[in-house]
Amino acid sequence: MDSIVVTGNGPLNGQIPIAGAKNACLTLMPATLLSDEPLTLTNAPRLSDIAMMGTLLQSLGAEVAQMQGGKVLALSSHALDTHVAEYDIVRKMRASILVLGPMLARDGHAIVSLPGGCAIGARPVDLHLRALEAMGAELDLRDGYVHAKASGGLRGGTFEFPIVSVGATENALMAATLAKGTTVLKNAAREPEIADLARCLRKMGAQIEGEETGTITVQGVDRLGGATHAVVPDRIELGTYMIAPAICGGAVECLGGRIELVQAFCDALDRAGIAVEETEGGLTVTRGDTPVRAVDVVTAPFPGFPTDLQAQMMALMCTAEGTSVLEERIFENRFMHAPELMRMGAQIDVQGGTATVTGVDRLRGAPVMATDLRASVSLILAGLAAEGETTVHRVYHLDRGYESVEQKLRNVGAKIERISGQ
Ligand code: EPZ
Repeated sequence: MDSIVVTGNGPLNGQIPIAGAKNACLTLMPATLLSDEPLTLTNAPRLSDIAMMGTLLQSLGAEVAQMQGGKVLALSSHALDTHVAEYDIVRKMRASILVLGPMLARDGHAIVSLPGGCAIGARPVDLHLRALEAMGAELDLRDGYVHAKASGGLRGGTFEFPIVSVGATENALMAATLAKGTTVLKNAAREPEIADLARCLRKMGAQIEGEETGTITVQGVDRLGGATHAVVPDRIELGTYMIAPAICGGAVECLGGRIELVQAFCDALDRAGIAVEETEGGLTVTRGDTPVRAVDVVTAPFPGFPTDLQAQMMALMCTAEGTSVLEERIFENRFMHAPELMRMGAQIDVQGGTATVTGVDRLRGAPVMATDLRASVSLILAGLAAEGETTVHRVYHLDRGYESVEQKLRNVGAKIERISGQ
């Protein structure tokens, strides 16, 4: 297992290109199952999760080809060999559940392994299932699998999500495109990844409205065609690299970054005294000698503060002036990075879903353990600003969501290297 060694090395300066969004690509790829014509995704990120989704689609009989070093994905599914998404693939990546809606809508049947929980929470899929039932699906949970049937095809229906769910909205939205009649999804997620999915589906011939409003209306069509679609930039990778100059000082331009993707996050940086500027190429974050101010943050569905940037924000707050309160309201167990940051000298008190961070002058390097994707990158960010050396173990978590993280940070002056097999 690889580790990454980071040594605090002062301010960072330069440019970091932002890749396509992992969480958009993971829902765009299963959309190929809705059509027998090719779907080409450009600006795709090169990540282990994307490769895993490719493996899953191929296991169903779809074709997945990577071009231009993986930045272009050519997908097609003329006919499926099987409609069973096996436990052995699904257990490795929860987003695999996103093949359920498209397969059911396409051929009227699907068997998909239940994903199970993960480090950050129980993460049930009940809302995915209930939304599909509202479209006439018959579901049977058996032996750890969802057995889904829609004899005669799905039909339009109305479903109100009791809580906002990104994945359940994506599954229902894809399924609704081929359902007979009109589907209305209320209290639906409004994340930029959902808007990107809707844009792509419209290019394939779907009739969708309202994806940025919380109420999505879909007029089902008989069939969808192919399309070519550029994946939206990754707002979580963007926010992560915006924190790097904020925590170390310096000025970094994140190429391809767009403020509307991270507005709530930028508002928090602004309150913390960090300057964010829109440039022709993206967004520049600058911090001089002025201290970072402690700010409170509450995670919420988009357009609120993203839970996927909570750990990175906590790393920044560790050396801010004053005390900050971070409330995690999306996942029940998403403070696993806190004890690791405390190994680096941070002062953090976690009580349930609330973490109180009292800023210290400086963190000290230490060996730490990555527990999940965003926790791992928060430890790297903390290491960039710490005195001495930090070794982050189990960085396979990181490779799921960050493309060439060492290279990108080294290009702006960070002292960082990967050690394999440690
Ligand atoms: C997506 O997960 C993202 N993953 C997550 O990013 C992100 O943290 C999350 O949305 C919230 O923004 C992908 O897009 C692949 P949810 P998802 O359904 O769809 C509960 C990362 O770091 N819930 O919006 O699984 C659930 O337990 C990852 O890139 C139900 O109760 O999240 C959670 O508490 C981590 N029943 C809340 O809703 C359901 O059927 C929000 O989950 C579904 C969800």
